[in-house]
Amino acid sequence: MIEILSSLPETIAALEDGDPDLKRAHLGNALSVIKGSLPENSWVGIYYDNGRQLILDAFQGTPACETIAYGKGVVGQCFSTGQAIAVEDVTAFPGYICCDAAAKSELCVPIIKGNKIQAILDIDRPDHHRFETEIKTYEEIAKILANWL
Ligand code: SME
Repeated sequence: MIEILSSLPETIAALEDGDPDLKRAHLGNALSVIKGSLPENSWVGIYYDNGRQLILDAFQGTPACETIAYGKGVVGQCFSTGQAIAVEDVTAFPGYICCDAAAKSELCVPIIKGNKIQAILDIDRPDHHRFETEIKTYEEIAKILANWL
């Protein structure tokens, strides 16, 4: 199922049904919806902060690095700066952490809850993609995902 990016926030928000027991299910389905909007061999997942480092949470795609230190890689820098980071060519990003040789571009967006960055939404694509115009939409999606952490 290919979803148009602009319709993703609405599609994802519609997963909410008010049952707190289904938060993790919503999260997994939301990542599946995002992955369905991306080219084949893309990866989408969440790294959460356990107070000491960032740890792999729900994801869709090939196996990935399980831990990332604060400030390291695109994920760790996104967490430490609190800003979305769009990387068109991962080989040009200082300190890039390679989990998947197919990844060529990456977007990381903080997931903020109660004024604190709880996790990072991470997207890898197998092409050199410019995510800049998509950041706002993914930030909107990150706000919805924050309800399900
Ligand atoms: N490339 C990331 C590591 C996580 S994977 O992309 C799943 C980074 O540099 O932080």
